Amino acid sequence: MSEIVVQSVERTYRSGGRAVHALGPVSMEFEAGRTTTIVGPSGCGKSTLLRILGGLDRPSAGQVLVRGQPVGERMDGIGVVFQRDLLLDWRNILDNVLLAAEMKGLPRRAVEPRARALLDELGVGDFADRSPWELSGGMRQRVAIARALLCEPWLLLLDEPFSALDAMTRDQMGVLLQQVQQTAKTTAVLITHSIPEAVFLSDRVLVMSGRPGVILDDIAVDLPRPRTLALREEPEFAAIVRRIRVQFERSGVLA
Ligand SMILES: Nc1ncnc2c1ncn2[C@@H]1O[C@H](COP(=O)(O)OP(=O)(O)O)[C@@H](O)[C@H]1O
Ligand SMILES: [Mg+2]
Repeated sequence: MSEIVVQSVERTYRSGGRAVHALGPVSMEFEAGRTTTIVGPSGCGKSTLLRILGGLDRPSAGQVLVRGQPVGERMDGIGVVFQRDLLLDWRNILDNVLLAAEMKGLPRRAVEPRARALLDELGVGDFADRSPWELSGGMRQRVAIARALLCEPWLLLLDEPFSALDAMTRDQMGVLLQQVQQTAKTTAVLITHSIPEAVFLSDRVLVMSGRPGVILDDIAVDLPRPRTLALREEPEFAAIVRRIRVQFERSGVLA
């Protein structure tokens, strides 16, 4: 069953008498427990779409149904990770992870064991008492993922979470995210600029056009899991990467 249904959604931004048609119309459905990645050129409305899915922005036309209900402004059970990790410098790592739970009024003792377990699982358990500035970019992003997963979200929204990282760290983070998803089985929507990363992480890739973004292609990625980086050398993998690249070439996004 589809957990999220997007029906003819459009978004036009208006500021100072100017209107920017940023997105759509787009229609799509997301199934529970699957990871879908959205790729598309800069400025095509990917972040706009993700914000609308999370109830952080409203469409100008169309609607989004979450489990049959129109998307609300303050939805529970959503974890979000952005390109910038947004860790608070005056809190240590553990307290950064606990922030969302604190804001919900959950007692610390109820969630601290899970926070520590997540930091362990993500390979930064030894840094629980450190400050964010003591950690590398990759480690900080692991903390941001732990924070997003703390309250066991049913939906994980990731907006270019690895874009600020170097290539090797980025690959490692991809493998890690995939491992975490293997256990958590959260419905996830990811945005990335990297076509190989999209294919590696997803059950499905949506390819968007330039602004206003519409869906050019909807590609199932039926590659076996768990996936290792060696998969990227396989012909099946390369074939899907090529299909996405061809879409971009046809639409003039890639010369
Ligand atoms: N709050 C806003 N006000 C006006 N224009 C915006 C706003 N947010 C985004 N835009 C414009 O909408 C378009 C899509 O933006 P965005 O969703 O951030 O694209 P992407 O994430 O694909 O790069 C861009 O042209 C951007 O400049
Ligand atoms: Mg964006």
